[in-house]
Amino acid sequence: MKDTLEKIHKTALEAIEKIQSTSDIEDIRNTYLSRKSELNNIKKNLKDLSNDDKRIIGSLSNQISKDIEEKLNEKYQVFYQKELNEKLEKERIDITMPGVFTPFGKTHPLTQTIDEITKIFQGMGFSLVHNENSPEVETEYFNFDMLNIPKDHPARDMQDTFYTKVAPNVILRSQTSGAQIHEMLTTKPPIRVVAPGRVYRCESVSARKNNLFHQIEGLLVDKDITFADLKGVMNEFLRLYFGSARPTRFRNSFFPFTEPSAEVDVQCIMCHGKGCRVCSGTGWLEILGAGMVDPNVLRNVDIDPEVYSGFAFGMGVERLAMLKWAIDDIRLFFNNDVRFLKQF
Ligand code: PHE
Repeated sequence: MKDTLEKIHKTALEAIEKIQSTSDIEDIRNTYLSRKSELNNIKKNLKDLSNDDKRIIGSLSNQISKDIEEKLNEKYQVFYQKELNEKLEKERIDITMPGVFTPFGKTHPLTQTIDEITKIFQGMGFSLVHNENSPEVETEYFNFDMLNIPKDHPARDMQDTFYTKVAPNVILRSQTSGAQIHEMLTTKPPIRVVAPGRVYRCESVSARKNNLFHQIEGLLVDKDITFADLKGVMNEFLRLYFGSARPTRFRNSFFPFTEPSAEVDVQCIMCHGKGCRVCSGTGWLEILGAGMVDPNVLRNVDIDPEVYSGFAFGMGVERLAMLKWAIDDIRLFFNNDVRFLKQF
């Protein structure tokens, strides 16, 4: 029995010498110290021995277990530390390494302008028209006929309006005013809406003109609406958008779908009134057309002009953006050069 124990001790110590890792330690612990190990078996059977043997074999087997346990613990300290260091070395993170740069996108300045203007009108009780009431691809009927624009009006000319081959009367809208008609055909007064969107004109491109640009249409129809209401709303808008220090002026004008009509000019800040290619030397830039909805238009959409009246306006988004940020070429909005876009 004593021999067996000493043999077990010897092989255990040899195995411990050969340990290479913490998992070797676990294996040895299993083989020599677990409940199913030979050593444990001997301890379990001590009760069958004589009292003397019980004492000798009992104490020897305990000593051996203790010795193996201690040696394994020593090895564990060494290999645990070694393995930890290796792991840390392998998973090392270099926090001084530069990160990967991801450039941020931004809202286009025209979209920013549309959002800002729309918010101002929402603050005055206007709401956004539904998309289906403001289509970019229009018919002459909505873009011209219903707006009281005569058949021989120069705006209908092929030189001014983009006609499509879809059908003879299908065009790219030349103004957002068609949204007025769609809105009045689908909603009963009181009406108070704004309709931002793209418009197209067959024009030669220059610093002040592009053949694609944006407008924001506005329409208010209710009882007892007068030109004073139109002027009040326009002045409040100008004050909120430009601040009260910017010179603006009303001029009388003519549109087939409003009577009376007016235009609003804002002083050109590219040249501060001295004259430049954007304002064509006048010192002023026209930013919107407006007027009282013509009774003929109201009749076209079955609204009784004896009961209701209203005003409409249409403003040029690019011009409003140019006059806010002193941008002296409309084409910059469409080239989408990031060096330009980054500034907003
Ligand atoms: N649609 C006109 C234009 O494009 C502007 C306008 C809108 C004028 C509404 C009066 C009323 O020039």
